[in-house]
Amino acid sequence: MRKKVIAGNWKMNLDLKESVALISEIKNGLEKIDNIEVIVCPPFTSLETAKTLLVNSGIFLGAQNMYFEENGAFTGEISASMLKSVGCQYVIIGHSERRTIFKETDEVINKKLKKAIEHGLKPIFCVGESLDEREKNLTTKIVERQIQIGLKEIPQSDLKSIIIAYEPVWAIGTGRTATPDQAQEVHKFIRDLIKDLYDKATADKIIIQYGGSVKPENSGELLSRQDIDGALVGGACLKSASFLDIIKSA
Ligand code: PGA
Repeated sequence: MRKKVIAGNWKMNLDLKESVALISEIKNGLEKIDNIEVIVCPPFTSLETAKTLLVNSGIFLGAQNMYFEENGAFTGEISASMLKSVGCQYVIIGHSERRTIFKETDEVINKKLKKAIEHGLKPIFCVGESLDEREKNLTTKIVERQIQIGLKEIPQSDLKSIIIAYEPVWAIGTGRTATPDQAQEVHKFIRDLIKDLYDKATADKIIIQYGGSVKPENSGELLSRQDIDGALVGGACLKSASFLDIIKSA
């Protein structure tokens, strides 16, 4: 059976002091988490402190982005080895805000995924269609392209360290969640695609999270669907009570 993976994407929120407060509340409020993996992804400036606070908590640490080069003249960027050095185990790659606001292409995302894996970071690889694409019935076509190019030349042996997050862009930060049926349909499509690109065993094992306005009111139903293995949570992860309730519902 696949475990459930609940990740909190803090985005560009919370300074160091606020980060310490949120991590402490999550840690203190978390009950036993059998077969559930919890990941927090604070901003870069809080990662090292978060790592110290998370020792022995069972909670994993992730970053929200990284660059695909090893090091060098890339002002403002962060490398995979830097993230490793402050204790990150995960990194979100290809979030729709990176794709749309910062113009990241599928090819760039492919390079980032490869570099993350090379350094032993586990990517949370985000895909998802815009509202316009959904209305034009292009959802599966878009997701297929994002996955095909994103995973190009990544061997089957590396798939075990990748989580895929299906995040319909129209559901992110809008309060408009995909219905469990809509999400399940795309998750199943993604699992079948992984089977075609790799094999059944790989497809059966890969974790596919849903993201987009996940909150305690809808998480239980979404997470009960066959191919929905977890959630990538934005807004609702910034308050310990709602993040903990989502974890409890898994
Ligand atoms: P949201 O964000 O939960 O605020 O919609 C999810 C995400 O962008 O990962």
